[in-house]
Order: sequence, then C-alpha cells, then structure tokens
Amino acid sequence: MNIKTGIAVSAFCLLTSCEDLAIHFTPTKKPIASHSKLAEKAEHFFWDTLHQGKYDNISTSTKLLLAAYLENPNDPLLAAHLGFLHIWKITERQRIANPPPEIVDDIILAKKYFADAVELQTNDARFLGFYGDSEMVEGSIFHDKRQQTKAYFTLKNAIHQWPQFNYFTAGYVMTTLPKQSEHFQTALDWQWSTLDLCAQTKINHNNPDFSPYLNLETQVGPQRACWNSWIAPYNFEGFFLNMGDMLVKQGDWKTAITLYKNATLMKNYSTWPYRKLLENRIAHAKENVENFQHSSASPDKSMMINSGYGCVACHQNK
Ligand code: HEC
Repeated sequence: MNIKTGIAVSAFCLLTSCEDLAIHFTPTKKPIASHSKLAEKAEHFFWDTLHQGKYDNISTSTKLLLAAYLENPNDPLLAAHLGFLHIWKITERQRIANPPPEIVDDIILAKKYFADAVELQTNDARFLGFYGDSEMVEGSIFHDKRQQTKAYFTLKNAIHQWPQFNYFTAGYVMTTLPKQSEHFQTALDWQWSTLDLCAQTKINHNNPDFSPYLNLETQVGPQRACWNSWIAPYNFEGFFLNMGDMLVKQGDWKTAITLYKNATLMKNYSTWPYRKLLENRIAHAKENVENFQHSSASPDKSMMINSGYGCVACHQNK
C-alpha cells in the first residue's frame, strides 16, 4: 500500500472496518508462467504419472511440482496440478492397505492449491469445480455444515461457468451420499443435464442410448468436455461408468445397463484399461444395487469414486 492509499484507507477506517479496507487495497497475486527446467521436468513427470495411472509416483511428482511452485508461486498450472495430485491421492486411497488418518491432509492441501489456482487463473472453471469439490469433501470430513453449504454454492457457480465439465465434477463427489438424500438426487439430475448438453437435445430417461449423438464429437470449446482428449483419453467411457453406477445405486439397474453400454460405443473402447470393470458391472448390475449402498474393498462392488480408480478410469491411457 502506498502513502496516499494509506491515508485514504485511514480516513475510511472511521466509517467502515479498517481490516476490510486494508485487505481490499492490497493487490492480489498475479499469474506468471514458469519456463524453468525444473518446472518443465515437474510438468512432464506429472502428466506421465497421471496418464500411466502410477499412483505410487504421486509423492515424487508432488515433490517436483512443489519445488517448481516454490521457485515461482505465481504459476496457476503448477498450483492446479499440485491440487490434482492431492485430490487423486485421497480419491484413490483404496489402493493403500489401511489408509492412515493423515490421508485427510490431502484434501486440505488440495483445497489450498486449487484456491491458489483459482486466484491466479480466474477464467478456468475446471479449477473452480475442483476447488468446490475439495471444500465439500473437507467440510464433510470435519462435519462443518456451513462449509458444505458454501461449497455447494461454489459448485453451482462453477457449473454456471462450464456446465459440460462441472455438472459431472460437482455431482461426482456426491455419489457416495445415501441414495434417498436430496443431494444424491441432485447429483443424478446433474448427470442427466450433462447428457442433454452433450447430445444437444433432451435425452430419453427410459432409453438413454447415446449412439445417435456420436457424430457431435469435438476437441474444441466447452463441448470438448463431453468427449475424449489427450488430457482425458477415456472420459466418455468413465462418464458412463459413473452414471451407470449412480442408476444402479438408485435401484434402476436396467436403465443403468443402457448407460454402461454407451461406453462401448466409443472408438477407443477396446483399448480402455478399465473395460473389465465396466463389463463386470453389466453382468452384475442387479446384485450391485445392494453392493453400492455400502463401501467395499472390492473395486467391482464399489461405486466408481470408491473403486481405487476414480481418477485414472478417465485419465490413464495405457
Ligand atoms: C469422467 C471422467 C473424469 C474423471 C473421473 C476425472 N476427470 Fe479429470 N478431466 C476430465 C475431463 C473431461 C477434463 C477436461 C479436459 C479438457 O480440458 O479438455 C479433465 C481435466 C483434468 C486435468 C487437466 C488440468 C489441466 O491442467 O489441463 C487434470 C490434471 C485432471 N482432470 C485430474 C483428475 C483427477 C486427479 C481426478 C480424480 C479426482 C479426475 N481428473 C477425475 C475427465 C475426468
């Protein structure tokens, strides 16, 4: 704060809260992209780790990204990718035998780094969506109802900015809620809304066959979040795996099978590393109505988000 602003602030302090004004007049962080060798190496290692689904490399990847972020704590991508590593760690914790209590630190850290990413890159609604998810999960772990309400509105805002991406992202963390809860139902409505947006028409809820819309595939603009890409090579398959799981959990296992089968329509389906997970679900949809009400050690009997592959089912490319 310079002297002039300082005087102005002091004058206003008489009228309103000094603290609010001082904070208001202090500049926010500004984005600066990194070009160092370290940042390049950290980014490269990050994408390899995610695309190869190497959960065991998360801590090495975190070390590298954190070193690069400390070198330049104004890079939005480094911040976001740190957030993604931490949320990946906690989401796929079923891969660790007996995850320790400190696994919750990963959601606290995810929230911190997504907050930085949102501040540095306000126009990327993907980071806002994941910030909202972290806020929601942290609020739920620590029984903070007010934080969960705040998170819900963060997510609504993220959906407003990029619905094709964030209806899924926001609803995904709510798939573990009891099926009769209001928020589980909302999360399911949000998946239907994704389908309507992606198909650019109202999808029939009794027969949600997606084959008529495959020609709408694109790699650009907001609609790209409906399809596969270099970033998320099996997004289409993963989306239908989760949505099928939600319908099974709700009890409508017959419609769920149509949803699961949509995944098989995609041209790269046969190379999807997680196709066995899907095929097992098609074979056991009816029994899973009961299985999906609880958590289970078996990936075949757990909702996708609790399967141990809740991120890599969309992101692993081999
Ligand atoms: C249903 C599939 C799906 C699931 C599940 C999923 N993602 Fe994604 N993810 C996507 C899509 C789609 C994008 C957006 C791609 C784009 O921007 O073109 C994306 C974007 C990303 C990005 C890119 C950020 C950048 O800098 O461009 C990262 C990293 C990421 N997700 C990590 C994760 C992690 C970690 C999880 C688990 C907590 C997860 N994703 C769960 C589909 C998924």
